[in-house]
Formats: sequence, structure tokens, C-alpha cells
Amino acid sequence: MLIIRRTIGLRLLVALVIAAALTACEPTNQGYAPLQPIAYSHAVHAGVNQIPCQYCHFGGERGRYAGIPPASICMNCHGEVSVEHEEVVKVQQALDSGEAITWQRVHKVPDHVYFDHSIHVSAAVECQECHGPMESMGTVLQWAPLTMGWCLDCHRLDDDPQEAADPVNVGRASRLVDCTNCHH
Ligand code: HEC
Ligand code: HEC
Ligand code: HEC
Ligand code: HEC
Ligand code: HEC
Repeated sequence: MLIIRRTIGLRLLVALVIAAALTACEPTNQGYAPLQPIAYSHAVHAGVNQIPCQYCHFGGERGRYAGIPPASICMNCHGEVSVEHEEVVKVQQALDSGEAITWQRVHKVPDHVYFDHSIHVSAAVECQECHGPMESMGTVLQWAPLTMGWCLDCHRLDDDPQEAADPVNVGRASRLVDCTNCHH
């Protein structure tokens, strides 16, 4: 365990040195859209039927993860709506067998990055600022690059000199770009 920790420490140190050079041309998973086990559509639910994001992703208000809804949430409505639909039948079968649906994770920051939904939700950052127009997506895709440069672009307040000079923002401005905020 100790040896592993030390190796990681060393790797991080090396990584820090080359970070500045790397962030200019970070690789990204932007556009990643894996095939899902059930053809679920945000356009039908969040778009046409205007179901609020947090009806299903209720974790984001209070915690780090927004969460993927369990099959039981789907059946709140599909006990009555589109009961015979092939894809809905799969949801019912998952519920009956007690096996979780194996939704493929789309968005993921590396383990060395700390990201928390509730901080952003309570700062009134809209889901769409980071996930794009989800309410018109059939298949979910990673809309933003999720690179360090992308986080920092929004966290930097000095693009707007007036905003940065506001005494309220002096401590906040440096806190938001502090390495230890996102790398614990
Ligand atoms: C009726 C339930 C429901 C509603 C409403 C809903 N979603 Fe989802 N969402 C899901 C399910 C199920 C998945 C996982 C399957 C998939 O990726 O298509 C998902 C996946 C996602 C993902 C990708 C998760 C990952 O793996 O990275 C994002 C981001 C997301 N939703 C954002 C939103 C936003 C923003 C809204 C509102 C505009 C919204 N969702 C509304 C059910 C819902
Ligand atoms: C708040 C109610 C509600 C919830 C919760 C809900 N749905 Fe739906 N769903 C609907 C409505 C309304 C339709 C549209 C029915 C129609 O137009 O005939 C629909 C349609 C569908 C369809 C039919 C195909 C399509 O795209 O039109 C599928 C499949 C589906 N939902 C899957 C799911 C899954 C999977 C979940 C859980 C992650 C879920 N739904 C949660 C209300 C809901
Ligand atoms: C400031 C940018 C930002 C905002 C705002 C945001 N997200 Fe995310 N979201 C991310 C990032 C970054 C990840 C990957 C996080 C990780 O790997 O832990 C993610 C992951 C997700 C996931 C999959 C993993 C999880 O946390 O369950 C879902 C679902 C999701 N977001 C839904 C939403 C919804 C719904 C909203 C609005 C209530 C929202 N997000 C607001 C940046 C954001
Ligand atoms: C669209 C804008 C936006 C994006 C993109 C964004 N953030 Fe934020 N972030 C904010 C806002 C606004 C706050 C809250 C600022 C405040 O309370 O003063 C915040 C706060 C935080 C905080 C808490 C800071 C503190 O000490 O209060 C962390 C940690 C954080 N973000 C991590 C991330 C990470 C990691 C990413 C990229 C994966 C990211 N953010 C992307 C807007 C954004
Ligand atoms: C607002 C959040 C945020 C802040 C502040 C931040 N980082 Fe990052 N950092 C990230 C994210 C997100 C990634 C992952 C990027 C990716 O996977 O493409 C990352 C990746 C890295 C990496 C790995 C590079 C790689 O190619 O994998 C290093 C090293 C790093 N950051 C160092 C730093 C240093 C040093 C600072 C302070 C000067 C800092 N970070 C400040 C969010 C942040």
C-alpha cells in the first residue's frame, strides 16, 4: 500500500511539472455516446414531456453525484404509460428479476479530480451549461470536453475586470482556480 502511494505521489509530481504543457492540448472524450442497454430518450422525457431533470437525477441537489434513476422510478409512470412498448418491457423485466440495468457511464472525470454537483446546482449553474441541450438528445453524448482548461474557463473571473475587482470576489476568484480545490 505504502509503495503504491509513493509511486502515485511521484507520478503526480512528474505530472504536475508537465501539466502546464499538456493542458494546451488535452485529449478529451467529447462526443462520446455509448450504446445503452435500453433505448431511453431524453428528447421524449425532458423535451416533449418536460419532466424536470431532477425528478430522475435527484442526487445532484444534495450530493456529489446526480445519479441514474433506478427502474422503479421509470415504473412510476410506465405502470400505465406505454406498458407494452418493447423497451419498457425490458425495464419491467429488470425490476422483476432484481437485476440493475447496466447503463453505460458517459461522463467521468479522473479519480484525481474532485467534482461535486451540489456545489454547482446551489450556485445556480444550469445542467445545460455543462451537459448541453439534453432535452433534445435521443442518445446521451458527452457535450463538453471536461478538461481542466474547460473547468478553469468558467472558474476564472478575471475575464471580466469589473467582476474580478469586486471585493466580494477577491478571495473567491483565487479559491476557484486553486489547485487543491479540484485536486485534494
Ligand atoms: C425520466 C428520467 C430522466 C429525466 C427526466 C432526465 N434524465 Fe438524464 N438520464 C436518465 C437515464 C435513465 C440516464 C442513463 C441512460 C442514458 O445515458 O441514456 C440518463 C443519463 C443522463 C446523463 C449522462 C450520465 C452519464 O452516464 O454520464 C446526463 C448528463 C443527464 N442524464 C442529464 C439530464 C438532464 C440535464 C436532464 C434534464 C434536461 C435529464 N437528464 C432528464 C433519466 C432521466
Ligand atoms: C414522469 C413520467 C415518466 C417517467 C418517470 C419515465 N417515463 Fe418513459 N415515457 C413517459 C411518457 C409520457 C412517454 C411518451 C409516451 C407516448 O408518447 O406515447 C414515455 C415514453 C417512453 C418510451 C417509449 C419510446 C419513446 O422513446 O417514445 C420508453 C422506452 C421509455 N419511456 C422509457 C423510460 C425509462 C427507461 C424510464 C426510466 C429511466 C422512463 N421512461 C421514465 C413518461 C415517463
Ligand atoms: C459545472 C458543470 C456541471 C453541471 C452544472 C452539471 N453537471 Fe452533471 N456532470 C458534470 C461532470 C464534470 C460529470 C462527471 C463527474 C464525475 O466523474 O464524477 C457529470 C456527471 C453527471 C452524471 C453522471 C454521473 C453522476 O453524477 O451521477 C449525471 C447523471 C449528470 N452529470 C447529470 C446532471 C444534471 C441532471 C445536472 C443538473 C441538475 C448536472 N449534471 C449539472 C458536470 C456538470
Ligand atoms: C459553467 C461554469 C462552471 C464549470 C464549467 C465548472 N464550474 Fe466549478 N464552480 C462554478 C461555480 C459558479 C462555483 C461556485 C462558486 C462560488 O460559490 O463562489 C463552482 C465551484 C466549484 C468548486 C468549489 C469551490 C469552492 O471552494 O467553493 C469546485 C471544487 C469545482 N467548482 C470544481 C469544478 C470542476 C472539477 C470542474 C470541471 C470538471 C468545474 N468545477 C466546472 C462554475 C463552474
Ligand atoms: C476547476 C478545477 C481544477 C483546478 C482549479 C485545477 N485542475 Fe488540474 N485538472 C482538472 C481536471 C478536470 C483534470 C482532468 C482533465 C482531463 O482528464 O482531461 C485535471 C488534470 C490535471 C492533471 C493531469 C493532467 C493529465 O494530462 O492527465 C494535473 C497534473 C493537474 N490537473 C494539475 C493541476 C495544477 C498544478 C493545478 C493548479 C495550478 C490544477 N490542476 C488546478 C481540474 C482542475
